Amino acid sequence: MRKNETQTVHEVFNQLKIEKSSTISNQDFKDHSPLISKKQLWNEFLFEFKNIYGKEFIKCPDSVMNIKVLFLYFLQDMEFFNCEKLRSDLSCPSFKKGLFIIGGFGVGKTAYMKVFEKIFNKHKELRLKGYTAKELVNMYESCATPSDKSYMMSTTVRPRLFIDDINSERIANNYGNCDVVEEILFNQNEKRYTTFVTSNHTNPENSMEESIMDIGVRYGGRIHDRFYEMFNMIDFTGKSNRR
Ligand SMILES: Nc1ncnc2c1ncn2[C@@H]1O[C@H](COP(=O)(O)OP(=O)(O)OP(=O)(O)O)[C@@H](O)[C@H]1O
Ligand SMILES: [Mg+2]
Repeated sequence: MRKNETQTVHEVFNQLKIEKSSTISNQDFKDHSPLISKKQLWNEFLFEFKNIYGKEFIKCPDSVMNIKVLFLYFLQDMEFFNCEKLRSDLSCPSFKKGLFIIGGFGVGKTAYMKVFEKIFNKHKELRLKGYTAKELVNMYESCATPSDKSYMMSTTVRPRLFIDDINSERIANNYGNCDVVEEILFNQNEKRYTTFVTSNHTNPENSMEESIMDIGVRYGGRIHDRFYEMFNMIDFTGKSNRR
């Protein structure tokens, strides 16, 4: 099959090898009725991907493996724990933790999470709100008073928060410096809320260990140590899709 050839939903499912019974269920949310089935999620993913990016999702070995780990996580499918892209050696995997997605440029980190954000917007329990790290710094810097700053910080923290492109932002400067993303990650962890973050690798070898270490150094020991209880570590691979 050529890389950009369209496939039926059935064919793609078979390749994703998601458990036939997978659904995002309500079991962590008091009752057991399914919120969204795997088939519905996949159909919606393809539809929203096309809708937002104006092109079909291209399937190649890397993109399939990358999207698979996210699908299995959101579907709470036990196969998640066997995913190649899940670095169980770096952090003990759990559905209670969020996701730390690290990868090279253009591999789909932002695109896939934005599509999930759009799909989950219809489901209160799954809803996640996304910001870029730079956006958060700008929001902080545009606050006029200390009470605006604390309001901004308190409203950003939420049960399911997505911060795109961490480690790309500068330290905020607004009558004193503030490492906004560090502060928000700390607050998310204090409240035991679920956080999803993406970042680029920090080294040309694309070593996850080194990237996590460098990002830890950027945010300081307080957050670095918390990374491991906050996140499943996801290693996105492949070539850039920007062409
Ligand atoms: N599987 C895919 N099929 C088609 N287009 C894709 C696929 N994955 C990503 N893209 C497209 O490639 C472009 C880059 O993707 P994206 O912005 O998600 O990359 P990224 O991993 O966030 O990169 P960066 O680290 O530079 O932010 C987007 O236009 C996106 O729609
Ligand atoms: Mg991105």
